Amino acid sequence: MPGNQLFRVDKLLALTGVGRSEAKKLIASGRVTVSGTVVRDPGLKTSPDLLFLDGQPISVETDLYLMLNKPAGVITATEDKRFPTVLSLLPDKYQRRRLGPVGRLDRDVTGLVLLTTDGELAHRLISPKWKAEKTYRAVCEGRLTPADADAFRAGLQLSDFTARPAELQIVSATDEQSVADATLTEGKFHQVKRMFIAVGHPLISLKRTRIGCVNLDEALQEGEFRPLTDAEIRGLKAQTSLLKE
Ligand code: URA
Repeated sequence: MPGNQLFRVDKLLALTGVGRSEAKKLIASGRVTVSGTVVRDPGLKTSPDLLFLDGQPISVETDLYLMLNKPAGVITATEDKRFPTVLSLLPDKYQRRRLGPVGRLDRDVTGLVLLTTDGELAHRLISPKWKAEKTYRAVCEGRLTPADADAFRAGLQLSDFTARPAELQIVSATDEQSVADATLTEGKFHQVKRMFIAVGHPLISLKRTRIGCVNLDEALQEGEFRPLTDAEIRGLKAQTSLLKE
């Protein structure tokens, strides 16, 4: 749990399993303190580690939000018989939480995977309705040209659907290979690979570098992870209309 994130006292109590109305009663009876001061306002915001009930620290498990730099060869699932999964790269203490990956990356694709226990945020980040942008660093065969970027922007016709308009920023281009950043607001099966094939430039490698406001932390080696910062969590929630206050 990010250290300095603040939560309403009544919500934190409810997370311990006491239920909202019971939480209100506990507060009204003066048994709940924050930093040693009796709480009167159920809406008071606090860091969970400052909250005590009957003089005892309360133990709450608020949602977890992690970013992982996925290596090739690992699958974006919670369990698999044949291949290591993104979950298997995390320490034991995370195995007991209901962490799930936000969307999928193909086994050979590397880069940013978000893992969270917050199902609603995960759902919104992958739902086309919320149009969360995902950026991929692509290395492809042959020379990309501005005409390819125009084709991405126009919405590429694939065999079974028309892709939404996407951005293609060409970073470098030679006759042998090109590097570009592709930004999409949807994620159908093999979509980026198929879009590059559609413009005649099959991919050599693909790495996701961004989901919404969250960039892959360049300090993370492949296989490493870190918790999202409060700013990153708030940013993702704001982008998906989940910030109520
Ligand atoms: N597009 C792909 O083709 N593969 C991925 O893993 C993600 C996007």
